[in-house]
Amino acid sequence: MSHPSKHLLAIEGLEPPHIADLLDLAESYALLNRSGKTQRDLLKGRTLINLFFEDSTRTRTSFELAGKRLGADVINMSVSTSSVNKGETLLDTASTLNAMQCDLLVIRHAQSGAPALLSQKVDAAVINAGDGTHEHPTQALLDALTIRRHKGSLEGLIVAICGDIAHSRVARSNIHLLTTMGSRVRIIGPPTLIPADVARLGVEVFHDMKAGLKDADVVMMLRLQRERMSGGLVPSAREFFRFYGLDAEKLAHAKPDSIVMHPGPMNRGVEIDSAIADHPTRSVIGEQVEMGVACRMAVLDVLARRLPRNR
Ligand code: ASP
Ligand code: CP
Repeated sequence: MSHPSKHLLAIEGLEPPHIADLLDLAESYALLNRSGKTQRDLLKGRTLINLFFEDSTRTRTSFELAGKRLGADVINMSVSTSSVNKGETLLDTASTLNAMQCDLLVIRHAQSGAPALLSQKVDAAVINAGDGTHEHPTQALLDALTIRRHKGSLEGLIVAICGDIAHSRVARSNIHLLTTMGSRVRIIGPPTLIPADVARLGVEVFHDMKAGLKDADVVMMLRLQRERMSGGLVPSAREFFRFYGLDAEKLAHAKPDSIVMHPGPMNRGVEIDSAIADHPTRSVIGEQVEMGVACRMAVLDVLARRLPRNR
């Protein structure tokens, strides 16, 4: 089944075959990457611009690598030294890049909905690399691929997503993807960090880690998104760790072969204990980063197929 849109703005709205196709293609790119080979003719002559209005290590670098491995010309626009600082708006910035005939525009922005707005104004295919508290679709894809590689399938798995759900676009994209693919999703966190209407997304809500982690196949930890919090929603990092930080004692309630995930960046000692983050068999955090490159290659590949040949 071909991808339903010219853009990738969200996981919400994708159907199981769309997601499965992207994951299958990403799996083949993961193998290609491990073999050390590239496929530099696929995006030859195409231009990809990374436009990040928020900080990033993994997402921006992996889109750059993904684009280069497929042969695109990749430009990382430095927003902090751009004319945005002279008062140029998001839309005028995008129109400027559009006039340079950019084919693929990867955008991260603090405002939920910014990539969708942009997609209506530019000719390029727009990829959401994280918008406010809304979605981070390629993160959910790389998480799903990592889970699938360990558990075989997403169907029927118990996945516990823990911590700051309210401000996390990673949680939202993962909830949409995992429920669509038949996983049982539990969310765990203090009431101040769980959105009131979240149960309508088809998840079970827990405020106690031990109860929520019971028999989980996958434990996904999230960073406190302090940059998006107004007021003191969390008493102190120490207290948060005591109740919601993942350590060996709490992890013992999950299945013995459960895997531990974190999208990064981690705050060790706040949402996750170092011994768990670095656990040689349970932690798959490094593999998530590796799968990030493969998934972004798959997304670029699929969207490039829908681009007009000569712009
Ligand atoms: N890197 C992820 C994001 O940008 C998660 C995080 O920052 O905690 O949403
Ligand atoms: N997981 C993630 O999006 O990481 P960055 O913020 O470093 O891109």
